[in-house]
Amino acid sequence: AYRSYGVQVSVYNGVVAQQGQEAADLVSARPGHSEHQTGLAIDFGSQPQVCSLQPCFGETPHGVWLAENAHRFGFVLRYPSGATPITGFSYEPWHFRYVGVALAAEMRATGVATLEEFFGLEPAPDYG
Ligand code: DAL
Ligand code: ZN
Repeated sequence: AYRSYGVQVSVYNGVVAQQGQEAADLVSARPGHSEHQTGLAIDFGSQPQVCSLQPCFGETPHGVWLAENAHRFGFVLRYPSGATPITGFSYEPWHFRYVGVALAAEMRATGVATLEEFFGLEPAPDYG
């Protein structure tokens, strides 16, 4: 879950090396901009691993359960499918962000899927 700034540097630079910066910016936050650096985000997976860190994880029983139940524990699916223009990131059915039960429940009840829409924020991240 938690990543230090230094770890995010390694993660981000690795993706840039593989895919180039434009593609990397859709799947990896630049150092200083990742929710993982706050300790509030978790990347979930199943054991045994199926579709680990891949879009198809959202269609596995584990991914479906997480999407349906995370709010009960104060988490939101942070980068929903089809929300890239809003969040700035590709669909990540494994990445959940803790926001507290009250906010997660309110977002669920009102059907607001992203923090950007709930708080009226620009697509993150703002790299200036
Ligand atoms: N994969 C997410 C966006 C991150 O790097 O924090
Ligand atoms: Zn993540």
